[in-house]
Amino acid sequence: MDHNDMGADLAKVLISKDEIDAKLLELAERIDRDYAGRDLLIVGVLKGAVMVMADLARALHSQVTMDWMAVSSYGMGTKSSGVVRILKDLDTDIAGRDVLIVEDIIDSGLTLSWLLGNLGSRGPASLKVCTLLRKPDAAKVEIDVAYVGFDIPNEFVVGYGLDYAEKLRNLPFIGTLAPHVYGG
Ligand code: XMP
Ligand code: MG
Repeated sequence: MDHNDMGADLAKVLISKDEIDAKLLELAERIDRDYAGRDLLIVGVLKGAVMVMADLARALHSQVTMDWMAVSSYGMGTKSSGVVRILKDLDTDIAGRDVLIVEDIIDSGLTLSWLLGNLGSRGPASLKVCTLLRKPDAAKVEIDVAYVGFDIPNEFVVGYGLDYAEKLRNLPFIGTLAPHVYGG
């Protein structure tokens, strides 16, 4: 294996591409039904949610509009602090709009909790969350998530938008890291 072989850094496949595809179809069906006749804005949180947004949007039958936000946690290290800075704000005025935040993963929930407060204060008609992955054992705040793809163990995962040091985002599935990568 050369250094560009993505498989070299992985311990195992946690969720396959087929499982992701099937789950997104399921979620899209529910979203189509729940927002029938409404004008939905889906908001992707960069960079992790790029793949989920792209595939979920194409699985929807209803017409939606798409916008993006980029946020970053202040502070050092890999753990979320809950103090968040907006790197790129929405282009859209969401006052009176039906808004669905699309996330790759909810870990501690601190980032999303902040985002819900921030977007909520802009007066949307409704504000809900869709996430592909959630780690129930890592939750530090209770968040009401309308659409969850998979609840996963409290392990660091990569692929399908999720990165380790900006790498492995383009894996078509979700995997866990090999111990040699994080020094285990
Ligand atoms: P929380 O919910 O803790 O998560 O505020 C904030 C952000 O941290 C990233 N994150 C991960 N990224 N594998 C990753 O590649 C993971 O297992 C993981 N857990 C959290 C992610 O960007 C999330 O939005
Ligand atoms: Mg994210």
